[in-house]
Amino acid sequence: MSLAAAVATPLPASAAVEFDAVRLTYRTATGVLPAIEEVSLAAAPGSFVSILGPSGCGKSTLLKIAAGLLPPSAGRVQLAGEVVRGPRRDVGIVFQQPTLLPWQTVLDNVLVPARSQGLDMRAARSRAMDLIALVGLAGFEKAYPHELSGGMQQRAGLARAFVHEPAVLLMDEPFAALDALNRERMALELLEFWSRSRRTVLFVTHGIQEAVFLSDRVVVLSNRPARVVEDIAIPLPRPRTLDTMLMPDFTLLCDRLRRNLFAASGAAGRA
Ligand SMILES: Nc1ncnc2c1ncn2[C@@H]1O[C@H](COP(=O)(O)OP(=O)(O)O)[C@@H](O)[C@H]1O
Ligand SMILES: [Mg+2]
Repeated sequence: MSLAAAVATPLPASAAVEFDAVRLTYRTATGVLPAIEEVSLAAAPGSFVSILGPSGCGKSTLLKIAAGLLPPSAGRVQLAGEVVRGPRRDVGIVFQQPTLLPWQTVLDNVLVPARSQGLDMRAARSRAMDLIALVGLAGFEKAYPHELSGGMQQRAGLARAFVHEPAVLLMDEPFAALDALNRERMALELLEFWSRSRRTVLFVTHGIQEAVFLSDRVVVLSNRPARVVEDIAIPLPRPRTLDTMLMPDFTLLCDRLRRNLFAASGAAGRA
């Protein structure tokens, strides 16, 4: 069973995601902290776009705005042409931290979006079981989050993001807690899922190779407050396989992004 096959047809239409001059300033007890200076970017329906930037530059903040969890200070985000004003049911989110409910089993955690959206629970349960097996957690359906490693919790979070078949997936460094082998495996599974279902994916990462391997486009952000310093197409052929990483163009693209990332993080010349 592959991740793509686990997601039942018919598929909902994919949706465009557009950031239009989005700004965000956090207001805290100690003052104001500009997190997003100004970001405009667009992901076409069904495209895979990575947002690449240094740690602390505002990547998670951007995804929270797209998810409707945080209102922008200025500008707007549109999903399928509608301004995002709060959480939406056609979005799946994989957070940087697994954020599982500690008092619920893995299966119940994966079913949370299906339950809150009133989906047919029989079908959702069967899809959840497939997804749990697919992320390597077969046998842990009845386990509680504290019985899992951080990486296993993150994989449960991945299954949860897919269970309601969202049109848009927002993924915040979803593989950061995985070991190298599982990270590669999940990247390939994600691509297989994406290429068949063609959901729009916004994928946040600080991994250059990961961004190039997965994406149609990579948007490079500056240090905080974030602005777009580069937005490049990744014209590598699909389907991508592990051999893609051996292509000269792959190396060239990674090298170009690495230089821009260093420049954007103020580390030029220190690399
Ligand atoms: N709720 C918050 N209140 C105040 N500052 C925050 C909040 N969340 C994040 N920040 C700050 O905003 C900046 C960007 O954070 P974040 O979006 O998490 O960056 P990234 O995901 O790129 O590492 C950081 O300096 C962080 O400390
Ligand atoms: Mg983050």
